[in-house]
Amino acid sequence: MSHDFIEDELSRKSVFKSEQLLSVDYIPESLPHREEELRTLAQSFKTLITSPGQTSHRFIIEGPVGTGKTAVAKLFAEQMVLAATRRGIRLNKLHINCRVSKSAYLVYLRMLREFRPRFPRRGHSPEELLDMIVEVLDEEDSYLLLILDELDYFIKQRGADILYDLTRLMDNRLNAPQRLSIIAIGRKIPLDEDILDSSTLSTLQRNLLRFQKYSSEALYDILKERVQMAFEKDTVMDETLQIICDIASERGDARYAIELLWRSGKQADRETSRRVIPDYARHAKADTHPELRKEVFATLPRQNILLLLAAARQLREIRSAYITMGELEEMYRTVCEEYSEEPRAHTQVWEWVQDLTAHRLVDTKRSGAGQRGQTTLIGLSDVPAEMLEDYLLDILE
Ligand SMILES: Nc1ncnc2c1ncn2[C@@H]1O[C@H](COP(=O)(O)OP(=O)(O)OP(=O)(O)O)[C@@H](O)[C@H]1O
Ligand SMILES: [Mg+2]
Repeated sequence: MSHDFIEDELSRKSVFKSEQLLSVDYIPESLPHREEELRTLAQSFKTLITSPGQTSHRFIIEGPVGTGKTAVAKLFAEQMVLAATRRGIRLNKLHINCRVSKSAYLVYLRMLREFRPRFPRRGHSPEELLDMIVEVLDEEDSYLLLILDELDYFIKQRGADILYDLTRLMDNRLNAPQRLSIIAIGRKIPLDEDILDSSTLSTLQRNLLRFQKYSSEALYDILKERVQMAFEKDTVMDETLQIICDIASERGDARYAIELLWRSGKQADRETSRRVIPDYARHAKADTHPELRKEVFATLPRQNILLLLAAARQLREIRSAYITMGELEEMYRTVCEEYSEEPRAHTQVWEWVQDLTAHRLVDTKRSGAGQRGQTTLIGLSDVPAEMLEDYLLDILE
């Protein structure tokens, strides 16, 4: 009889108990080292429940990568909705990623569709959508807690009008219930008088919560809980956790720490080891880079990935810190040919470069007026070219 590889695979033991609890979208019910932040939010938003319609709340959460901004906001919104429902208040929550919903129109459409799922995609102006949102909320006697996530990315490309328009929407209703409250999230939200009027600005500056990087000890507590949920008992060695926390504490990034933990577990499974030893964490570190975030690449169009691949490849080949726009486009055409895609024209490519810059995947600067003339130079933000190239090749498979 031939060897049964399927039975082999099925009977293989894994160090994971629930691997999905290590995925980037999973938010645990307890967030160690963010209790203080959750309490602050609860104190500020309490009146949404005690006296609904009285005030419209606006809050900003700022902080570096992987410090729990999204997790805290989502958990908080969920708990708010539960508390409101228990008291018969129709509070809805909506999380919008502004990196995906790239224009005010798309954000408003998402908001409206939360209540009117079949609302047509075209045919209305953004202002009309906003008015309709208020109408719908009034009609249904509902309140909305809106989370505008990764708003810094949006503002960089489109300005801050969206904040102004959304806050004015409520400020203009003097004697009607205040239906909309907002939590805006970003690594750094540019708040200055150039882009916002002074009253919007002062409200937001008063309600600003800044998340700090996690220390190695904080990361340890976070991972410890994850290990208990996601791994079989006694599989992950304490030394392994220590190493992961030390590596990730440089950035204070819980996402990176969790990814290292997950990869270490994967390696244990690959080697059919029942223990996740420190060496797997060291390997995981060598194989990954904190800037290579799966959820970012999942939302990038294929053509953008090809362009990024071209940048990585060209940078690796010429071994220089920057390439010119011309060099990039030349490599881009070769890459397109390889993947049987029609290369796009210069203006489109140029726009994509801006997009990738906003995603912090590439880094651009103007060249000095040297031999090359004035041109834009493109480099990689932080990831080694070779690592990025490998990663992209994997995605494109
Ligand atoms: N205190 C915590 N306890 C448990 N898990 C956490 C905690 N903080 C963050 N995480 C987990 O770490 C990952 C990253 O957190 P999150 O997505 O909230 O970061 P972020 O601050 O929004 O980062 P970014 O700026 O990149 O969007 C998530 O998987 C989240 O569940
Ligand atoms: Mg986030």
